[in-house]
Parts: sequence; C-alpha cells; structure tokens
Amino acid sequence: MSTPTLSATGIRKTFGPTVALDAAQAVLHPGEIHALMGENGSGKSTLLTILAGVQQPDQGTITLDGRVLDDLTPATARSYGIAVVSQEPQMAPALTVGENIMLGRLPVRAGKVDWRATHLRAAEVLAELHLDIDPRTPVSALPLGRRQLVEIAKALVDRPRVLLLDEATSSLDEAETRTLFGLLERMKAAGCAIAFVSHRMTEVMDHADRATVLRDGQYIGTRTLRETDERELVSMMVGRDLKSYWHKAEVSPGDRLLRMVRVSRGALKSIDLTVNAGEIVGLAGLVGSGRSALLRTIAGVKKAEAGEMFFAGHSVRIESPRQARRLGIGYVPEDRKGEGLVMHWSLYRNAGLSRVAALKALAPVTGRIDRAAYDAGTQGLKVRTSDPRQAVSELSGGNQQKVLIARELAITPRLLLLDEPTRGVDVGAKEDIYAQIAELVKGGMGLIIASSELQELLGVCDRILVLYQGQIVADLTAAEADEETLAYWASGAHEIGAA
Ligand SMILES: Nc1ncnc2c1ncn2[C@@H]1O[C@H](COP(=O)(O)OP(=O)(O)OP(=O)(O)O)[C@@H](O)[C@H]1O
Ligand SMILES: [Mg+2]
Repeated sequence: MSTPTLSATGIRKTFGPTVALDAAQAVLHPGEIHALMGENGSGKSTLLTILAGVQQPDQGTITLDGRVLDDLTPATARSYGIAVVSQEPQMAPALTVGENIMLGRLPVRAGKVDWRATHLRAAEVLAELHLDIDPRTPVSALPLGRRQLVEIAKALVDRPRVLLLDEATSSLDEAETRTLFGLLERMKAAGCAIAFVSHRMTEVMDHADRATVLRDGQYIGTRTLRETDERELVSMMVGRDLKSYWHKAEVSPGDRLLRMVRVSRGALKSIDLTVNAGEIVGLAGLVGSGRSALLRTIAGVKKAEAGEMFFAGHSVRIESPRQARRLGIGYVPEDRKGEGLVMHWSLYRNAGLSRVAALKALAPVTGRIDRAAYDAGTQGLKVRTSDPRQAVSELSGGNQQKVLIARELAITPRLLLLDEPTRGVDVGAKEDIYAQIAELVKGGMGLIIASSELQELLGVCDRILVLYQGQIVADLTAAEADEETLAYWASGAHEIGAA
C-alpha cells in the first residue's frame, strides 16, 4: 500500500484520572474515506483533536507522508493541509456566514479587511458544496443543520489534503448528507485522505472504504468495508453481539393524553394531532419542515397563536416551559449545548434541573434532589463518567446526550417530547435509551419523537406523522410506513404529483 498521508500510532492521552486513549491508532491513506468508530467515550474525538494539533498526546507518534511530526498545533496543522470539523460547532453566531468561513484568513487590502472579497470567496466555497446560503446571513439565523454545513465549508477554504470530520452529519437531513458525501467522493478522487466519525451505520456502510474501531481508548482493529459487515463492526465496538438497537414497546394505547386542534404559530399551520397514553408518535420531515417548532409549542417554549390544546381531558394553554413541566411534559431539545445543558455545571446539577423547575416557588433546593434525579434518570443508561460531580463539558458528546435525556426521565413525565434524541449516541447506547423508554411507555407515558433518522422512527414508533412546510401531510401507522413512503411525503413530491 501507499505511504500513509497521516498516521497516528501508540497514542496515549489522559485527563486527570481518565485514560481517554491508550495505544490508539489511525492510519489514513491518500484517496480513502476512513470511518473512525467506537462507542460514546471510546476516544474518537480525542484522537481527531490530537491529529488536528488541538491537543497534545502524552505518548505516541504522528507522521505526515512518512515523516514524524513533533510540532503539531492548530496553526501548523493548517499549514500541513490538515483540516478538522469538530463535534461541537465552533462558530461566532453574531458574525455572518462569510465572516465565519473566512475567519483567520480574512483578505486584507490597503491595511483593511476586504469584506467584499471575504464574502465573494465564501460564496465560492458555498457553491462548491452546492449550498444555497447567502454569505451575508448571520450564523445565528441558521438552523442547526445549516450551521453544520457552514462549519464544513469553513474547513474546505484552504483545500486541505487531510479532512477530519467529527460527527459532521449529526444535524443534517438526508439531502444535506447526500450533498456532503458527494463532495467527499470528489475530494477522495483528488487524493484527499478523509476520516469521519458517525454513529449512523448506514453512512459507514455506504461511504467508507475502511473503518478503524476504538474501544475504551484502545485500538481494536481496521477493516476494509468490502471484507466486513455491520455485524462485525458493531461487535468490535461494543464487544458483544447486538441483535437490534430498537425496542418497540408492545402496549395497547390508553386514554387520550394530548390533543391539538388547528394549532398555528409562525410557520406551523393548523396542526391537528393526538397522542394517547402508551403511544409513540414519530415526526418525520426535512430540516425546517416544522418538527422542532411543533415540539417547542407543546413544551411551552413558544406560545401557540391560534387553535386549542387539551391535556389529559382538560383544555390547556401552555405558555411557559414551567407550565408544561407542571402538567408532566418533559422536553429534550435538539441543541443540547445551546438550549439543553448547562455545560459548566456538574452531571448532578444538570440532572436535577427538571425536578427543580417543577417545584413550587420557594420550595428548598438541595443537592439531594440533584443526586436523586441523577440516580433515577440515568438508570440503565450507562453514562461514562469518572465522577458525576464532573462538569458536563468534560463528557464525550454521546454521554452529554444521555445526561440530557436522563434529566427528563427523572421526572417520570406523562408525555415526553424528544427532538433528535439519539444524535451522536452510539448503537449500544441507543439500545439502552430505548429499552429505558419502553419501560416508561409500558407504564402509560406518551411519547413524541422527531428524528431525521428514518430507521429510528420506523424502529420505535406506533404512528408516524410527516411534516412538510409547517403542515402535517401524512399520518401513517407503523405497518403502512417505510423509508420510501416517508421520503415521498417529506420531500413534497405529493404536491408536484397533484399539480
Ligand atoms: N477535557 C476533558 N476533560 C476530562 N475528560 C475528558 C476531556 N475530554 C475527553 N474526556 C474523556 O475522554 C474520554 C474519551 O472522550 P471522547 O470525547 O474522545 O469520546 P468519543 O469517542 O468522541 O465519544 P462520543 O461518541 O460520545 O463523541 C471520555 O471518557 C471523556 O469523558
Ligand atoms: Mg466525540
């Protein structure tokens, strides 16, 4: 085989008592798409940040074109043509898309930043990605999926030889994901070495040439995709055989829990929806179709402007998140960093938040509430932490997501709203989360899940609603729904057909 473009071998990295990597390795060849796989907390992000010069390893060797590199920093990495898209967005929301893309390399003319050239160059990069985004839009105005694409555009400005993507597709819908992989295929053809982390098995199976698996910070092995299968890769990751990640709770739906009648707000148009106790309802649709907006309305984050809502038989107006909680509505937002967790707080304190919010005014708040909430909520979820008094920011992405879900499970909600609940969650942990949720559903909890991963919806839901431009355009039972049908309704093809 050719000389590796970039290789890391024998890498060790510790954070205090945590051994994040121990004898880890990844070897990237020119013209390949390489998947880096492993459970949450197995060390994937740590390894990529080391390859990008963001963190220094305690031990190990990194080579570029066969030559040992001992001066890796973010700046030298960039000069070597190594670009990284990190797991958590690294953008300045107040700046425009173009400014973010060009940050650190703003063109200067006569001693001043040339803003025209900045936005022109950014527009070129966006066009290469087939992205229809105005470079003068502030990043704060973009939904999460678009932000992620801007982040990728930013990595491509310098035409890197090595591209490292850490869960770059986790907020993208199907069409955006296709656009991204189309681009990666072209870069691969041009000789670029690409490594990507994704917890979506289909992406790995469809696009990777080779895959390297880490477990507990250790190198388990590298496989050529043509010579392996999903089952082998999963068992390398989790160290055992997994039959299915999804747990469908077999319950007969009980009383009506939530009913929305012609509810409108902003882009949401005349939503009619019912959820019964013990029922799991899925929301499918493209980014921007209104899935998140609908969940926010039920969670009281945004007030409905028209229509009626009934909860457990009573007419209700849900005007704040606190009010929603009092009714027993739990909510896991899509953006765990922005809306969900308080990153510098401990796991305990974050877990306690939902209980505290549901308390009556002036009730005493104690650490005991936090600990009890944490213990109750994380039951069965296997959060990987050295100590629950640790700041949430120190956890791996998937483990942060588990804490966010645990916080809502801790109040045993009557209705739980989940927006992209398993974003960044590994296959084994998905199984744990859905097994836990299945128990609550058997106990009569109702559930609404919005997800871009159609397999997830098909795997767990009793009923799936498809949103298109703020309206519910299809209401399908589990038996009627399949990927093609959902994609058909979500894409608006029915309108073209009708015209
Ligand atoms: N700054 C830090 N301080 C303390 N511990 C850390 C820090 N960064 C990472 N870790 C720990 O190192 C281990 C590996 O984390 P890493 O983020 O590399 O995992 P990952 O494989 O990317 O997981 P995920 O799939 O959840 O993103 C975890 O146990 C994590 O808690
Ligand atoms: Mg990670």
